[in-house]
Amino acid sequence: MRSAWAAARALEPSTHWFYAKNYLLSEAAWARAAPDQEALSGYVERPGRALDMGCGPGRNALHLAQLGWQVQAVDLYPWVVRQAQRRARQQGLQDRLTFTCGPAQTLRLPPAYFDLMIDVLGPASDLRPADIGRYAAQLCRSLKAGGTIVIYTYLSASELEQKQSSLRVTRCREDPLGRWLYLQPG
Ligand SMILES: C[S@@+](CC[C@H](N)C(=O)[O-])C[C@H]1O[C@@H](n2cnc3c(N)ncnc32)[C@H](O)[C@@H]1O
Repeated sequence: MRSAWAAARALEPSTHWFYAKNYLLSEAAWARAAPDQEALSGYVERPGRALDMGCGPGRNALHLAQLGWQVQAVDLYPWVVRQAQRRARQQGLQDRLTFTCGPAQTLRLPPAYFDLMIDVLGPASDLRPADIGRYAAQLCRSLKAGGTIVIYTYLSASELEQKQSSLRVTRCREDPLGRWLYLQPG
């Protein structure tokens, strides 16, 4: 597992301290939240291979595994990856989940492999602008034809498209905190 120090270098210092505080000093609010079933409905009914970028303690990764998906779950912080692994074992889902600890923007992903990618307030919202293009390009490369990328973010659809010119927003669903963007390469 990569060290927390390596994780710190992958983000802006203020973002790193936000996560360190949330994960080390208390339980992060999103750890207790229910999975985003409604936002994901329509995209998860036919299980395949999914990637959860910035999985945190794993609420959506575990939900997908429960639905029969084979899930690769990625997060920067070793503590939170261990927490997600523990939850997977407790729920008997360990065979459906693979965990990777490290910066999403430098992961090596197999080409045309995933049917679904999700990023819920994760790297797409937190990355430095200079890293976003690389991140988007590798998501596109690793998405199977006909697959979908679902990003929940504070960014607007046009901000995201500007930062990630290889992606096209096909649907946008607003909620009180942010918006769900459904993307495809294009
Ligand atoms: C707000 S939390 C949300 C966690 C989870 N997606 C959820 O909705 O419950 C965002 C997570 O993204 C992770 N993250 C942010 N930037 C990342 C990056 N560049 N690579 C990997 N993980 C990242 C953080 O460590 C954090 O656990």
